[in-house]
Amino acid sequence: MSPAELKASLRLPVVAAPMFLVSGTRLLIAASKAGVLGSLPASNARTSKQFEEWLGTITTALKSDSGPSKPYAINLIVRGAESRRFMADLALIERFKPPVVITSVGKPGDVTDRIHAYGGLVFHDVATLRHAKKAIESGVDGLILLTAGAGGHTGTANPFALVPQIRRLWDGAILLAGCISDGAGVRAAEILGADFAYMGTRFAAARESLASSEYKQLLVTQGTDDILTTDRISGLAATFMRGSIARMGLDPDKLPPRIGLLQPGLPEEIKAWRDVWSAGQGVGMIDDIPTTAGLVDRLEREYLAALQR
Ligand SMILES: Cc1cc2nc3c(=O)[nH]c(=O)nc-3n(C[C@H](O)[C@H](O)[C@H](O)COP(=O)(O)O)c2cc1C
Repeated sequence: MSPAELKASLRLPVVAAPMFLVSGTRLLIAASKAGVLGSLPASNARTSKQFEEWLGTITTALKSDSGPSKPYAINLIVRGAESRRFMADLALIERFKPPVVITSVGKPGDVTDRIHAYGGLVFHDVATLRHAKKAIESGVDGLILLTAGAGGHTGTANPFALVPQIRRLWDGAILLAGCISDGAGVRAAEILGADFAYMGTRFAAARESLASSEYKQLLVTQGTDDILTTDRISGLAATFMRGSIARMGLDPDKLPPRIGLLQPGLPEEIKAWRDVWSAGQGVGMIDDIPTTAGLVDRLEREYLAALQR
């Protein structure tokens, strides 16, 4: 399948982006069934055995009697590519053949060849033009541009600067990530030159996500000004809700500095993502906790309305 064929197979050019501890099989299946590309990080499964079970569940759920299976994506962190867990997960990916593999952190290099060998597409996360050029050289099919204010490990570039510059030098798929919260935003990403909108935070507040009800409530009540970008929680620059930091008894403006490269100075018992919750600046647009199907219906209505403008 080519990226254009993938796009044509979807109801909307949207990826429900992978989120650590937030996207599980229910969210992935609900998103893919609703007609966008559902995804989850392999690391959300505790073991490769559990990952195998999940892949089985997803494959069965997305099968159709009347046509091709609905597509989905698996996110693999490439850093630590020598680890046993990584090798086992990659072997499972070769067996279950998810149509799209989203690679993040490391170099997609060898992984790309193995995904291409079974006909899968590789989309790689980048935040700078330099990393985009490297990923293009390694043969990926799509670039996910992490721009300013995105949820999770965010970027700092403005999408108006990044998308057209990459479009100028590359005709592969571009997925734009960062604060896209409604159907008009999806259309805006396309007008800018992207092929897909890559949306995380909005789907974290969907009913099927694994986020706790307290987490979802904060997604509804916190606004853009409540988003802190800091490397003091996960060790890398990432966006977190101030309310979730305060909830752990910490002052968002007086977080302990990192101990070393990548190592946060937080008390041992406080874990990024599990106890302190990420959201992008688009959180200000969230004021409900819809079902994934309801959310996709609404995105489609907004997208079609934006086409008429
Ligand atoms: C809670 C949370 C966890 C995330 N975990 C991951 C992850 O495990 N792997 C990954 O590639 N991206 C991760 N991301 C980033 C998303 O895949 C996506 O790039 C981002 O959410 C898009 O920006 P938006 O949230 O503003 O829509 C995470 C984002 C959030 C909000």
